[in-house]
Amino acid sequence: MEKTFRNYQAADVSVAVREHYRKMRKNQTLDYVTRMQQKYLTYDKPMDLWDAMAHLNDLIDVSDPDLDLPNVQHLIQSAEAIREDNRPDWMQLVGLIHDLGKIMFLWGCDEDGTSQAEQWGMVGDVFVVGCALPDSCVYPEFNKLNPDMADEKYNSTKGIYKEGCGLNALTLAWGHDEYLYQVLKNHDQNTLPEAGMAMIRFHSFYPWHSGGSYSELLGDNDAKYLAWIRDFNKYDLYTKSNKTYELDEIKDYYQPIAEKYLGGQPIFW
Ligand SMILES: [Fe+2]
Ligand SMILES: [Fe+2]
Repeated sequence: MEKTFRNYQAADVSVAVREHYRKMRKNQTLDYVTRMQQKYLTYDKPMDLWDAMAHLNDLIDVSDPDLDLPNVQHLIQSAEAIREDNRPDWMQLVGLIHDLGKIMFLWGCDEDGTSQAEQWGMVGDVFVVGCALPDSCVYPEFNKLNPDMADEKYNSTKGIYKEGCGLNALTLAWGHDEYLYQVLKNHDQNTLPEAGMAMIRFHSFYPWHSGGSYSELLGDNDAKYLAWIRDFNKYDLYTKSNKTYELDEIKDYYQPIAEKYLGGQPIFW
């Protein structure tokens, strides 16, 4: 039988996945996201890229119904598939690092949803905060649990945003995408192209890139972004398998690419 992905209704999708999304929808308000940005975007914790990769050996993403391997294996599988297709070196690197923001769990806590046990502030599909939650979210029945949906400033289609303001002006639910994007934006030696940074920032934004929601808020540049993210998404999603790698086996190949685009210095998280 052909493997299917992202089937959230399958009988074997664990109660934990559904529960993860219930908590995420309930807790990710505009106020929460603003507090997390202030708390986590401090750029004062230096860590080498490969040390960060190694830490993802300790994390299994509870929101992912397709994979129960340590997250570093998913990163290597994505990168290797991009490499096999002879895609550009920067895109291979993006595959390798796109989920590295999950190392937030090293300095996270249960109350913020940023720990090993509570991951609702770190992983899972994200949505825009400050405007209505669309039905294209997984488990849309949880949308009404979000306190912002009872506040008329935040519960209309446009909410706090101007029509056509564009993706980059939106505040998304807090998680590993935005965290890594901001950390790399702050990293002086970063020369990843705009497409690579977009893939990092928006790959979990399923209600937009797969659900087609938020059309009122999109801007002129965003069609270009959509093409980039859909291109990347096939490697994020369809490469999940039980094949495992050792970090040391692949490091020789990726290290020079990492140095080319991110320099040799530690990254400040
Ligand atoms: Fe991700
Ligand atoms: Fe991923």
